[in-house]
Amino acid sequence: MRSNVKIILVAGARPNFMKIAPLMREMKKNKFFKIVLVHTGQHYDEEMSEKFFRQLNIPEPDINLEVGSASHAVQTARIMLRFEKVCVDENPDAVLVIGDVNSTVACILVASKLNIKTIHYEAGFRSYDRRMPEEINRIVADSVCDYCFTTSPDADEILIREGKNVNNIFMCGDLMIDSLTDYLKVATELEPTLKLLNGESTSPLKDPGKKKFGLMTLHRPSNVDDKVHLQNLLNTIGLITEKLPVVFPIHPRTLKKINEFGLRKEFDSLKGLLVSGPLGYLEFISLLKDSMFLLTDSGGIQEETTWLNIPCLTLRENTERRLTILNGSNKLITITDIEKEVDLVLRGKGKTGKVSPKYSDGKSAGRIVEKLLKIFK
Ligand code: UD1
Repeated sequence: MRSNVKIILVAGARPNFMKIAPLMREMKKNKFFKIVLVHTGQHYDEEMSEKFFRQLNIPEPDINLEVGSASHAVQTARIMLRFEKVCVDENPDAVLVIGDVNSTVACILVASKLNIKTIHYEAGFRSYDRRMPEEINRIVADSVCDYCFTTSPDADEILIREGKNVNNIFMCGDLMIDSLTDYLKVATELEPTLKLLNGESTSPLKDPGKKKFGLMTLHRPSNVDDKVHLQNLLNTIGLITEKLPVVFPIHPRTLKKINEFGLRKEFDSLKGLLVSGPLGYLEFISLLKDSMFLLTDSGGIQEETTWLNIPCLTLRENTERRLTILNGSNKLITITDIEKEVDLVLRGKGKTGKVSPKYSDGKSAGRIVEKLLKIFK
């Protein structure tokens, strides 16, 4: 029996942070785990990274690779170069990566080639759309990893179909919901976020009150990288904001595209749109729980809205989170559906659903730690 195991936990981009927080907290309770937290620096701004570390009480990373933004190849390569040195210096027993961002795939490739045991958390998600960089990252991470930790049973089925050994697949549930259940009360006690935002946002919109506004997040290349599509999208959003206010914490890449395409004037003239920079975790979930609907192209928020039973209009052709469509409050829509779907919500006919407590009970970190102990002890 071993006395301890050294595991490198990798966190690189915003959607990793709310998953690493509960896992690290739980692992730290057990002296068996010697944890080295590596931040790749894929996200690096105060709003995209540091604020999340503070609000979610994640300890300072032991190592920051400080790779920053670049093209996919350059970013992935930079992470690999720097992470290889970390693995050689630290000589860990295992590397655990999360989700489907470039940091995930870069670090798992490095660790696998050094014959270090690898664990992929959030394995088995598939959108079956290889135009999404995240889909490539998922396929590669799952095909090389030794242990697959999944959030829902459909992911297990996918991995088994793809030939993964069933004995190395562990369905432990959704760490994001651990964070949501941990922090919802704190977020509820915040000063109403809209009030706070009114001070910071570029729009003078008055606080419309709970359940009287929509929330929007958009950043996927499929929605913001084409000028005509983005322009159409802004026009459609203009039709929505005539009916009710919409809060839009804007992702830096979306703002960059709006400026690059010369759409800033049109964007600034959308009257009912309350625009802010990226929000902290607490501010975001505080807004989410009070919103009437979410219009989004993000991944994880589809799970959060399903848990909160808030209609989620996902502006994508597909999703890797199929259960949120089958059982939850999530709907895939196109740009031409937006107005009709928002009208449904306004008439109280938005999609509702249910959550399966088996994987959304806020206790996933505990189950993951139990399995890790079984694997490595
Ligand atoms: C990444 C993930 C995506 C996830 C998203 C959440 C990949 C392939 N994509 O996309 O799955 O949904 O994070 O945010 O890993 N930028 C800043 N500050 C930052 C980080 C980025 O201003 O701290 C800007 C830069 O201009 C950068 C752009 O945002 O070029 C895109 O950042 P990047 O990390 O490349 O991809 P995301 O679009 O954020």
